[in-house]
Amino acid sequence: MTLLREHDLGTPAQKGPATVDLEIDGLAVTVPEGTSVMRAAGLVGIDVPRLCATDSLAAFGSCRLCLVEINGRRGAPASCTTPVEAGMKVSTQTPRLEKLRRGVMELYISDHPLDCLTCAANGDCELQDMAGVVGLREVRYGYAGENHLDTTKDESNPYFTFDGSKCIVCSRCVRACEEIQGTFALTIAGRGFASKVAPGAGNFLGSECVSCGACVQACPTATLEEKTVISLGVPRRSVITTCAYCGVGCSFKAELRGDEVVRMVPYKDGGANEGHSCVKGRFAWGYTTHKERVLTPMVRDAITDPWRVVDWEEAISYTAGRLRSIQARHGVGAIGGITSSRCTNEEVFVVQKMVRAAFGNNNVDTCARVCHSPTGFGLKQTFGTSAGTQDFKSVDTCDVMVVIGANPTEAHPVFASRMKRRIRQGAKLIVIDPRRTEIVRSPHIEADHHLQLQPGTNVAVVNAIAHVVVAEDLVDHEFVAERCEPDDFNKWAAFISAPEYSPEATEEITGVPAADLRAAARLYATGGNAAIYYGLGVTEHSQGSTMVMGMANLAMATGNIGRQGVGVNPLRGQNNVQGSCDMGSFPHEFPGYRHVSDDTVRHLFEETWGRSLDSEPGLRIPNMFDGAIEGTFKALYVQGEDIAQSDPNTHHVKAALASLELCIVQDLFLNETAKFAHVFLPGTSFLEKDGTFTSMERRIQRVRKAISPVGDSRPDWKILCDLSTKMGCPMGYQKPAEIMEEIASLVPIYAGVNYPGLEKEGIRWSSTNGRKRRFFPIEYKGPIEQPDDRYPLWIIPRGFHYHYGIGTTTKRAQGLAKVFPDSCVEVHPEDATKAGLEDGGKVKVVSPRGEVETICKISGAVPKGVAYFATTFFPVFVNNLLVSGFDATSQHPEYKVFIGRIEKR
Ligand code: SF4
Ligand code: SF4
Ligand code: SF4
Ligand code: FES
Repeated sequence: MTLLREHDLGTPAQKGPATVDLEIDGLAVTVPEGTSVMRAAGLVGIDVPRLCATDSLAAFGSCRLCLVEINGRRGAPASCTTPVEAGMKVSTQTPRLEKLRRGVMELYISDHPLDCLTCAANGDCELQDMAGVVGLREVRYGYAGENHLDTTKDESNPYFTFDGSKCIVCSRCVRACEEIQGTFALTIAGRGFASKVAPGAGNFLGSECVSCGACVQACPTATLEEKTVISLGVPRRSVITTCAYCGVGCSFKAELRGDEVVRMVPYKDGGANEGHSCVKGRFAWGYTTHKERVLTPMVRDAITDPWRVVDWEEAISYTAGRLRSIQARHGVGAIGGITSSRCTNEEVFVVQKMVRAAFGNNNVDTCARVCHSPTGFGLKQTFGTSAGTQDFKSVDTCDVMVVIGANPTEAHPVFASRMKRRIRQGAKLIVIDPRRTEIVRSPHIEADHHLQLQPGTNVAVVNAIAHVVVAEDLVDHEFVAERCEPDDFNKWAAFISAPEYSPEATEEITGVPAADLRAAARLYATGGNAAIYYGLGVTEHSQGSTMVMGMANLAMATGNIGRQGVGVNPLRGQNNVQGSCDMGSFPHEFPGYRHVSDDTVRHLFEETWGRSLDSEPGLRIPNMFDGAIEGTFKALYVQGEDIAQSDPNTHHVKAALASLELCIVQDLFLNETAKFAHVFLPGTSFLEKDGTFTSMERRIQRVRKAISPVGDSRPDWKILCDLSTKMGCPMGYQKPAEIMEEIASLVPIYAGVNYPGLEKEGIRWSSTNGRKRRFFPIEYKGPIEQPDDRYPLWIIPRGFHYHYGIGTTTKRAQGLAKVFPDSCVEVHPEDATKAGLEDGGKVKVVSPRGEVETICKISGAVPKGVAYFATTFFPVFVNNLLVSGFDATSQHPEYKVFIGRIEKR
């Protein structure tokens, strides 16, 4: 594929029907009201010259290059800021306009370094293009511009440079930071010829900048330029693919020279991101070719032996032989597998198929167990489908946004930018979180209510809100009567009206002032379209499923479900959590969430796979660990997941891994789990393979191979097919598209999905199921442990904006360690004083189960009595500290709160 350049129409599209007819250079065009003349011209193939305009930003009208003539009007108006009118006759090319444009370009060029031939952006620069387009032949003002040519470069950001000498002060970067990203890190300082772009604190690294790169993308010159473009050269070809970090599912153009990635550019037609991205997706891809990647298969008989490099044939035979030997000695159920939410749908599908069909049991589980299994359970119970209700666009019509236990600015930055845009447009905001997250107060945004609840009291708060809705009769009775089970509603309403659930009665437990909670409840119920967005602060609790049902109850009671602008929407962590759950990663469900005991469904799979399948649910991850320690579970296949670090109670997990007779790790790096492995099978990154991911808005999107597999690594689906075939259950797929064909034939929610159909912006699978929604009375139970004299603080683990999961990939991405070099624990100033802690000082975080060293950060954003521990980096075994308790229904661990103290070191 050649380098794809999307057609830039100059100004954003207007909503509404095309009703305004006009004529541009003799061509008829009909566009929606409010469309600019520039965009209308672009739509009939006439690109009016421009520098300050681009269709991702509102028109600004500063460069004066886009002048046009309009019949009956004097002068030459700027086409980017002039809206169309019915009957207009516009000319974009006349001798007068050409002369005017050349004059404008002369001014720009006189103050620009004339180093085009050696400039990193040569061939990829709009200024250069425009000089050609307007036919610039001479510069009457000379070339010795006095204004910017001696400016020093700002190289502080690890990913891009700012070369002020090339700046034409078009303000596109400033506007991108404001309008698209919502960070407001840049301004134009000074006036006239002295004006220049200025990051807040003098340089980019010291400013509020979060390295999203929107300004770099918007810049029409080489002023803001990726460092990889400077070092590797302008890219020559591009491949459209999907980000492998978070569940937003941003589309990217991987831009390459030969077999080398030069940069990742967010794709304008991406259904989830519409041309925006965060630092991780845009810049943190260096891990794919990191020198620590393992590039050959390795085996060893005991974990105390050194690794032995082998070829693929031997690795697969060795693994299959040992698995079969274990089954012969310990039974069919002594082995199992864990799927990864980072792998593609096709890869997850073949893992669970291998377990069910080749291993002959249902011992397959997923790492989603430790993030969003309560979402699957809670939403299935109440709404009938294990998925969030809305797409991202829905937030554009939301009037009241409720953010619970989520920090979208850090965990889902691209969606957070969209949320913030809507809030700046006037939507109300309710944040329910112990911490004052960035979205509570940021430039031009202030939450209407921040319910700063005590850790672990989500259910008490959601019940108190529901109590207000029922007690004050804010219920949408029409919606409830038509769309919900009436008996369930009546039982629930009677339950929740009891005085013990009132805000006043629960204030002592939740710490939320009753009046504030009542006001928030009224706003949610009566403020128009109200949407709930929630994250791991909801699900990673022992009452995770209960809370999901509580939020669903609230949405149903107020009629905030079933249309755009409303809903109950999980903000999922990993790129393919939704897809890996859809693909049958749970021990009790076939792909498509159908129980293994359902004879009709099982027979369908048996017929297709030519095997008889177990009708009993298999082991969940915690059961596998317990079985390993007890000696009944002997071998585990781990697909792209570092369970030794990411699962709670590390001692227990490691004891279980150490008890296994065979541990097979399929990954990119020798992670912690690989220390317990007997077989290491080197898989590939998202850039090296084909497949699909399903994002948190249920959008199935293509992942496309951009570069060849590095070294001797192989696409994970291929490894699994070979292993399954060796174990006597042939999988002869030649390419992932064939696996998708089988998925589409077996999984109703994926029916009709095929690769050609996913070409443009992917497809969202439908969550409508026709059944009436159900209310469930839910009871609050406190956290598993409570602070005491020895452990006086609540400790809440959290992630970092700049890093992902446990940091396996982001820590190996170029530059991220520089942006955020260490882990830390955030402590309230009073707690810090009490414990004698200093900002930046070394401390120990101690829980009843262990201790971990880190750095102290004193912060007014956290409430008194609560400390936040950033968990990202892999030397930091924060999981040593976690309590081993589970959500009774989904068996999700109590991740998000434990007790502890912080000591000075
Ligand atoms: S990288 Fe993003 S946050 Fe930083 S200045 Fe540019 S647009 Fe703003
Ligand atoms: S840095 Fe680029 S985008 Fe920003 S004002 Fe200068 S030329 Fe325009
Ligand atoms: S928001 Fe998520 S999907 Fe988008 S670029 Fe960032 S990490 Fe990737
Ligand atoms: S593009 Fe219209 S004024 Fe700059």
